[in-house]
Amino acid sequence: MSASSYCSSCRPASIGKKVVMALSGLVLAGFVLGHMTGNLLMFKGPEAINAYAAWLHDNPGLLWGARIVLILSTIAHIWTGILLTLENRAAREGGPAVDATRRASLSSRTMPYSGVVILAFLVFHLLHFTFRQLALGGVDFGDNVYKMVIAGFTQPAVAVFLHR
Ligand code: HEM
Repeated sequence: MSASSYCSSCRPASIGKKVVMALSGLVLAGFVLGHMTGNLLMFKGPEAINAYAAWLHDNPGLLWGARIVLILSTIAHIWTGILLTLENRAAREGGPAVDATRRASLSSRTMPYSGVVILAFLVFHLLHFTFRQLALGGVDFGDNVYKMVIAGFTQPAVAVFLHR
């Protein structure tokens, strides 16, 4: 029996999208791990985190290479996510009235919603720390990333949001 005859969302085109979805998700999760490792330098003190930020900004090739990969991965992840969700819905139309999902964990079933929350966080986070437009009182911290993060976390609402 071919894959498409018993699983309407397992057609070769869907499988290609799932591969793109999985690979782009791996890139994004890898970034979050790397970013968290870099951010832990906050606990070593201002010199360590500021030197790390300065090193990144002094290597525009590396910085922009990583940014381009991240932007492309984000677009690919969102786009294939939308297409797969629509395909899954269309495949279920006219099917059984009860939800026949068998082996999907709660986190995998709610991933479209957690994805939207992460996207909202990312928009806020970029405006806050990268473009420095929000919640920092218009202060220019220059290259002092340490001071900027402390100022950001000094605001209770921001601290709760970043630690959700
Ligand atoms: C408490 C947790 C976090 C802290 C303290 C933090 C801190 C920072 C800081 C200070 C910057 C600006 C660096 C600079 O301009 O030199 C930054 C940039 C960024 N963060 Fe975070 N971050 C956190 C969590 C996250 C998470 C969970 C994500 C992804 C979902 C994320 C994604 C990014 C991205 C995409 C950038 C922009 C990098 C660039 O400039 O190209 N961050 N973060």
